[in-house]
Amino acid sequence: MIRFFGTPKLETDRLILRKLELKDAQSVFNHWLSDDRVSNNRVNAAHHSVSQTMERVAKIVSQYENKEFCYWGIELKETGELIGEIDLYNFDKLTENGEVSYSLGYDWWNRGYGTEALRAVVEFGFRHMNIHKISAAHNTDNPASGRIMHKVGMRQEGIIRHMIRNSKGQYKDCAVCGILQEDYLKYNASPENDILKLEA
Ligand SMILES: CC(C)(COP(=O)(O)OP(=O)(O)OC[C@H]1O[C@@H](n2cnc3c(N)ncnc32)[C@H](O)[C@@H]1OP(=O)(O)O)[C@@H](O)C(=O)NCCC(=O)NCCS
Repeated sequence: MIRFFGTPKLETDRLILRKLELKDAQSVFNHWLSDDRVSNNRVNAAHHSVSQTMERVAKIVSQYENKEFCYWGIELKETGELIGEIDLYNFDKLTENGEVSYSLGYDWWNRGYGTEALRAVVEFGFRHMNIHKISAAHNTDNPASGRIMHKVGMRQEGIIRHMIRNSKGQYKDCAVCGILQEDYLKYNASPENDILKLEA
């Protein structure tokens, strides 16, 4: 059975994964949600006003009471800046499978932060939450996302043509990737550090 902990604080070498707060809305807007370079790879359009972001962050914050809600802001330890978000969602009670998605602000791309955050969430999902399989899909024209999935052990299982239609009306083919808990634990026998630092 999946064990739900809500959204506990997770710590990696360079990052803290933590709950979003209402006061984060301006950073969320400035750092990634208002940026077409980020949203072009996602389904939802970039935000044009911070009030849209406030509404979205408020909706996220209101769901933290639910133990099955796992949605982290990604904070840089060194500067305290909020640089992105990552979540586990779509938990299926029958299969005990779940999905992951993430976004990082453009200024922080290609420094290994995406891999570090995804690795932490996959580790948490398998070792602590006992999820059976974690999947994700990336647009085939978004190789960076595919690359970080691959680096944490996820493997491509197929391409779904026109799986999504983005806010500009463009259909996108998506590569569906996944990793089983049994494979993850086989190749990552014991964690170097426990990433779960605090209570939810
Ligand atoms: C996907 C995303 C989270 C990656 O985060 P990141 O911090 O840049 O990732 P990392 O630095 O850990 O790794 C990026 C990898 O992609 C590779 N990469 C980057 N651009 C690439 C490209 N155009 N083609 C091939 N590989 C590319 C990098 O070289 C790196 O691999 P390496 O470590 O083997 O060299 C970030 O680009 C992002 O937020 N994009 C917009 C939102 C998004 O796409 N979300 C996911 C939707 S499925």
